[in-house]
Amino acid sequence: MMDRTDRHYRAFARVLTRRTLLYTEMVSMGAILHGDKSQHLGYDAAEHPVVLQLGGDDPVALAECARIAADWGYDEINLNVGCPSDRVQRGNFGVCLMAQPELVARCVAAMRAAVPLPVGVKHRLGFDDQDSYESMRNFVDIVADAGCDRFSVHARKAWLKGLSPKANRNIPPLRYDLVWRLKSERPDLLIEINGGILDLATTQQQLAHVDGVMVGRAAWDTPWTLHDADTRLYGEAENPALTRHDAVLAHLPYVEKMLAEGVRLHHLTRPMLLLFHGQPGGRAWRRHISTTAHHTGAGLEVIIDALALVPRPAPPTAANEAAANEATAQEATAQEATAQEATAR
Ligand SMILES: Cc1cc2nc3c(=O)[nH]c(=O)nc-3n(C[C@H](O)[C@H](O)[C@H](O)COP(=O)(O)O)c2cc1C
Repeated sequence: MMDRTDRHYRAFARVLTRRTLLYTEMVSMGAILHGDKSQHLGYDAAEHPVVLQLGGDDPVALAECARIAADWGYDEINLNVGCPSDRVQRGNFGVCLMAQPELVARCVAAMRAAVPLPVGVKHRLGFDDQDSYESMRNFVDIVADAGCDRFSVHARKAWLKGLSPKANRNIPPLRYDLVWRLKSERPDLLIEINGGILDLATTQQQLAHVDGVMVGRAAWDTPWTLHDADTRLYGEAENPALTRHDAVLAHLPYVEKMLAEGVRLHHLTRPMLLLFHGQPGGRAWRRHISTTAHHTGAGLEVIIDALALVPRPAPPTAANEAAANEATAQEATAQEATAQEATAR
């Protein structure tokens, strides 16, 4: 997500989950070919597995970007065919490429020929009046024939005129049923669902229908959501951080390393601001960081002082973990029922 999942966010996400696949912000092919490579491509080794998302529409240039990404050690490439912003439309990429499946197929084929990495496509159900299920499936079929390894489907269409990118993430209704149908009709393809998925219980329910779940805003707005992904989704025996406090402490060495490289503290604290959202002390944590992290010379002490404002919870016991999981599962069932009702309308 632009202005969200930069390297500092991803490094922080890794103290919450080691197994989930992390995506970069979209980087345009021009920025990679002509811009500052370390600014656009630099990342920490702890971030693996990490996917570089590209924006572009030129097979030759995208193949070159894929080669550069492979040299930088990325694990996978993703092409953005979902963004509806004006700027992206002017560049003829993002969701408007759904109208040109053959071009997307050439882009995917060129990237796959250039590098030994998986190549995925993130797209929507359609846009404007190109929004039938059949046209989306036709798009997927053509792109799959070019060797696309993963389809990440934002389960709503986009309106190219009249809706801002933000409104395009909220107003067109979610149609999970269409993504489930795509998976049932194309069982050999790797189909991932995205849109409005807020927690791991809902994620687990979605996994009954599709191969993967992409979580966008919730990963930023409620980062603690990610903390038990490794045990709940990947069968690990334990999660990297037992408490939010542990997560902050585990992240300090990274913050220290980046400060020593000249990164300003407020860039490093942004991904953590909402960690204690809804918790006692959460506001004090956020206020202290927001008012002091941008000061010249601000360092680790800002985080340590902010942490001291948050009461440390008792470590979770098996019994209260189970109760919390049960409550989230009930919430997720209610959420799915509402979604199914909405899609049935
Ligand atoms: C601030 C912001 C920036 C985003 N940037 C990107 C992006 O660079 N590439 C992309 O594929 N999607 C981007 N998205 C869309 C999300 O990946 C996701 O498709 C959308 O928010 C719906 O999923 P969600 O309900 O889980 O957030 C962005 C979303 C937000 C809120």
